[in-house]
Amino acid sequence: NKSLTIAIDGPASSGKSTVAKKIAAELDLIYVDTGAMYRALTYQALEKNVNIKDQNALVQLLKKTDITFEPNEKGQFVFSNGVDITHDIRDNNVTNTVSVVAAHPEVRKLMVKRQQDMALNNGVVMDGRDIGTVVLPDADLKIFLVASVKERAERRHKENKEKGIFSDMDQLKKDIAERDYKDSTRDSSPLKQAEDAIRIDTTKMTIDEVVNEIKQLIQKI
Ligand code: C5P
Repeated sequence: NKSLTIAIDGPASSGKSTVAKKIAAELDLIYVDTGAMYRALTYQALEKNVNIKDQNALVQLLKKTDITFEPNEKGQFVFSNGVDITHDIRDNNVTNTVSVVAAHPEVRKLMVKRQQDMALNNGVVMDGRDIGTVVLPDADLKIFLVASVKERAERRHKENKEKGIFSDMDQLKKDIAERDYKDSTRDSSPLKQAEDAIRIDTTKMTIDEVVNEIKQLIQKI
């Protein structure tokens, strides 16, 4: 399994990370959450008052920003420059601005390089928006996960309630639709299904059903 590379792409809240984490744990592969990397940079920019529209300033910031993952029983911690930012990067102000940061082509170039380096000597399950199309075009298996906006908002709403976070269904639907729009209409590697990716609509599926379907696809590789 050490050389297996699995790319999982799809829109916001389509279940990518939950599914990717499970597959990685079961197959003893490294899980790389590329969304967390863009979130970490966004978090640092907001902390340091760096203008998120200024590509150059973001590139300079990213060069000084180290982003690492550390596995734990629930998934993983995200560290940036030695500080645990696992929870901070899920904040609404990060979620609602990350797509602006991720739209800069020079930022993406550096991120893609880091992501490719992580997969160089390791078997990985990597999730994001451009993994099958740009980061790992030769992945052994490419999955494109989709679900209706309503279903994705409901899943996020339930998660928020469980975590005790304030949550409004209508706002969630709007935010998800807006992030989908920004991520799929940007010029630089937009969210798009790779030609050789297998599309799974998870709207009416449980997490375990999705995981099982992917495991069956892995067996056929
Ligand atoms: O997956 P997640 O929702 O955490 O990603 C946060 C944001 O990071 C996305 O909305 C997108 O703007 C950006 N992203 C990206 N390319 C990736 C992963 C995430 O542009 N490979």
